[in-house]
Amino acid sequence: MNEELKIPNHVGIIMDGNGRWATKRGLMRTAGHKAGADNLKKLCIHIADKGVKYLSVFAFSTENFKREKAEVDFLMNLFFSVINKEFDFFMDNKIRVVFSGRREPLSDKVLKTMDKIMENTKDFDGLTFNICLNYGSVYEIVDTTKKICEMYKAGEIELDDIDPEFIQHNLYQDLPPLDFVIRTSGELRLSNFMLYQASYAEYYFPEVLFPDFNEDEFDKALLVYNHRDRRFGGIHENKNN
Ligand code: FPP
Repeated sequence: MNEELKIPNHVGIIMDGNGRWATKRGLMRTAGHKAGADNLKKLCIHIADKGVKYLSVFAFSTENFKREKAEVDFLMNLFFSVINKEFDFFMDNKIRVVFSGRREPLSDKVLKTMDKIMENTKDFDGLTFNICLNYGSVYEIVDTTKKICEMYKAGEIELDDIDPEFIQHNLYQDLPPLDFVIRTSGELRLSNFMLYQASYAEYYFPEVLFPDFNEDEFDKALLVYNHRDRRFGGIHENKNN
């Protein structure tokens, strides 16, 4: 009997290996980022078609500012131009776009584009596409803690209001927990990606570099997810295990 595939509600992708993809082809690293962005658009549609409701991607970490200025500038321009160029794509596909991360030191030009797409897509109920840009999980927890302390100081909440759900609601974006985190390129690290949200996620580390992580690769990943036994600290469903 063919059992139906379980579809994770929230998928996270650490899009790693763009630089290596380009270098292997004798291209500039930036060509890898461009290929990664093209791939991401196709993946978005495919992942939404599969029934995933939330997709979070790691586009730029706070630590990525340590890269050469030319690469940082290229990435910032890429974010700006992709979001502008794909405005109709997000609108037509009813994709709600949100961003996670610190606004400082992003340029006004990039921030305005981010705000515009968020505002225009905020009522869509298709895929929620969370772009982690200038993001780091440890600082997200610091920023959330400060925000909650301010609420407490202002008398808006009591200590007992603070529970795991309350913290989730006050992170950069109020998103459900991650079910499945994929990091491409074979690196076995989380690199500060959504640590609170991923506390009970399943992980998958394919060797394939992000620009090659296409629809077929995502389907392979789904099969892997379907073979995982998610217990959330409980016991095996299959008592023979
Ligand atoms: C990591 O690969 C990738 C990045 C730092 C950038 C990812 C950005 C995109 C795919 C563009 C997405 C566009 C939008 C609008 C969200 P790496 O450069 O660290 O690769 P390497 O480890 O092979 O050097």
